[in-house]
Amino acid sequence: MVSAKLYDGRLAVDIAGLKMQTPVTTASGTFGFGLEFTDFLDLEKVGAVCVKGTTLLPREGNKGQRAVETPSGMLNCVGLENPGSDYFLNETLPKLRKYDVPVIVNIAASSPEEYGELAHKLDVDGVDAVEINISCPNVKQGGIAFGTCPDSAAAVVEQVKKHFTKTVIAKLSPNVTSITEMALAVENAGTDAISLINTLIGMKIDIERKRPVLGNITGGLSGPAVRPVAVRMCYEVAQKVHVPIIGMGGIEIAEDAVEFFLCGASAIAVGTANFRNPCIAETISHGILDYMNRHGYNKLTDMIGAALPEGSFALRSGRKE
Ligand SMILES: Cc1cc2nc3c(=O)[nH]c(=O)nc-3n(C[C@H](O)[C@H](O)[C@H](O)COP(=O)(O)O)c2cc1C
Repeated sequence: MVSAKLYDGRLAVDIAGLKMQTPVTTASGTFGFGLEFTDFLDLEKVGAVCVKGTTLLPREGNKGQRAVETPSGMLNCVGLENPGSDYFLNETLPKLRKYDVPVIVNIAASSPEEYGELAHKLDVDGVDAVEINISCPNVKQGGIAFGTCPDSAAAVVEQVKKHFTKTVIAKLSPNVTSITEMALAVENAGTDAISLINTLIGMKIDIERKRPVLGNITGGLSGPAVRPVAVRMCYEVAQKVHVPIIGMGGIEIAEDAVEFFLCGASAIAVGTANFRNPCIAETISHGILDYMNRHGYNKLTDMIGAALPEGSFALRSGRKE
């Protein structure tokens, strides 16, 4: 629980019970467990630390090359390498709890039941929310990602809701035809909030070797290249659902974050930009305040959804239709 009022409370948001002093969080997989970044920024000055994708058991991740730079972004196929839930709970969480900042654990599994089991294990003091990575392959359905099928995504959310007592965030995959269909499916299944977007599937060819560059052949595209897609999806989803949205995808500066707020996001996450500038999450909060001062907004919540079509404001962070 965060005590002192940061930014005079002007940036405070409440994401379905997850109270944050600033809407700027970190995107899973780009900020380690947060502890790796303490030489660069004050963890207590981000809204919440979202840790790397955590699985029930440790995972080694993919073999071969795992990342490559692309125009305005990068492709990665880390493959959810992580030390597993026991290590997280016994070794990492006690260290993270020394900081006065909410913790979101990003979770991954291969069946709805396994998601439920993992969520149950993580339902402990110090874990304030789980973010469900539904971009994982559903082993029982031949490896099709949960996040590309509304019924599978809903089944995962239902299991997690059953086993976790605090805030549940469903993280949508952009690799779908209709993002609003997926958003409605997870909302109807009971998610408390939605985050969007995960990475877009892409690939790069090494033309000398005449082979894909990445060990996994395909990878997830992130960075500024995906921002227009993410903003569009936020705009569409915000008009359909009532749960709060955490927007992400290519946010590098405060002005990028503002695009998401105006399109209905109540909070944002900084991802790939952390690799270039590890202090950026803290810097962005100050830039958001500058924008608010220039535009006469006293509170962040006053600008959420301001670019949505007239009459389509959803109820989020105190903003009423
Ligand atoms: C190296 C890397 C690892 C990632 N790992 C995860 C992960 O474990 N779980 C997850 O839900 N998203 C993961 N993501 C996706 C990001 O959290 C984020 O949704 C995406 O990169 C878009 O934001 P960005 O363009 O600001 O990076 C990862 C992204 C990158 C670049």
